[in-house]
Amino acid sequence: MQMGENVEPNLIEQLKKLQAKYNVMGQDLSSYLDGLLYSDYLTYWDYIHLDTLLSLQTPKTSFRDEKIFIVYHQITELYFNLILWEIDQIATLEVQTEAFFVERLRRINRYFQQLRDSFSIMVEGMEKDQFLKFRMSLLPASGFQSAQYRLIEIACTDMINLVNATEREALTEYSDLDQQLAKLYWRSGATELATGKSTLTLQQFEEKYMPTFKATGMKYRDKNIRKVYLKSFPHSPDVINSLRELDTFANVLWPLAHLKAAGHYLQKNTRDIKATGGTNWQKFLPPRFQKIMFFPELWSAQEKEEWGKAALVGIV
Ligand code: HEM
Repeated sequence: MQMGENVEPNLIEQLKKLQAKYNVMGQDLSSYLDGLLYSDYLTYWDYIHLDTLLSLQTPKTSFRDEKIFIVYHQITELYFNLILWEIDQIATLEVQTEAFFVERLRRINRYFQQLRDSFSIMVEGMEKDQFLKFRMSLLPASGFQSAQYRLIEIACTDMINLVNATEREALTEYSDLDQQLAKLYWRSGATELATGKSTLTLQQFEEKYMPTFKATGMKYRDKNIRKVYLKSFPHSPDVINSLRELDTFANVLWPLAHLKAAGHYLQKNTRDIKATGGTNWQKFLPPRFQKIMFFPELWSAQEKEEWGKAALVGIV
């Protein structure tokens, strides 16, 4: 009996397609098939790089709860990365469709919802005594230095909407990008009140990432989420609902969950404990002071006025 007789017809078809694919690149399919013959089967642990993943938690102290703190930050950064991945898919699409846009926005909202809901791992899941000790070994590092958090902001809206609330009026959407960058809300949050100088946390953060933020601002100038909405779907109720939800998760609900953690660990009776990033966090973190909205046109004057005070759009 000939070998070929045992080969299933669909395999022959697949081989022909493969040969065509490799021919295009001038490659010899037979050599690649040899490679397949000698290579090992893929395992789960290699595929997700489990050993590498589990080697990335290196506490600075021997307090057991520091591991929870590190892992939860890493989980958050992975979700941030997925959010940026979805935004990139939207921004790089040649022709926008409402279905694609809404579906990606829903994914983003789902990631934010997970992050908001899981924040109790920080608020309730560590011993306060341990936290207050190990945090001193982390100075001057702070979640404030999360570049992906800033990149999400920049990719969601126009830079003007990230300018300090008190200085937003003085600039416009079309003001010079450098002028807008100079007035970003989080930069003024990390200024020492006594001296007016930038905190070390801010200085180091900017030194490393400011060029990236500027480049990202330019990249998304015409294709950030707000721009896609205004250009392509300004009247779609589904788009508008998803965007209101995104604004609420990113700029009210996650910040409130996070603020609760700061309050839980850093507020001691009437005395406040200094934040590792050196901000005046009680004045800086509350969404009602920051008043950051990615899509300001989607909120009424009253909703803006009450920003961060009440639960919005029915997501609690
Ligand atoms: C016990 C847990 C936490 C506490 C007590 C805490 C505390 C703080 C404080 C006090 C600030 C103000 C900046 C400073 O002076 O350091 C801050 C900022 C920040 N933290 Fe956390 N944090 C916690 C967990 C996290 C986690 C898990 C993340 C996730 C990446 C995170 C991300 C951020 C971000 C993005 C900012 C800047 C917020 C903004 O600019 O509005 N934090 N945090």
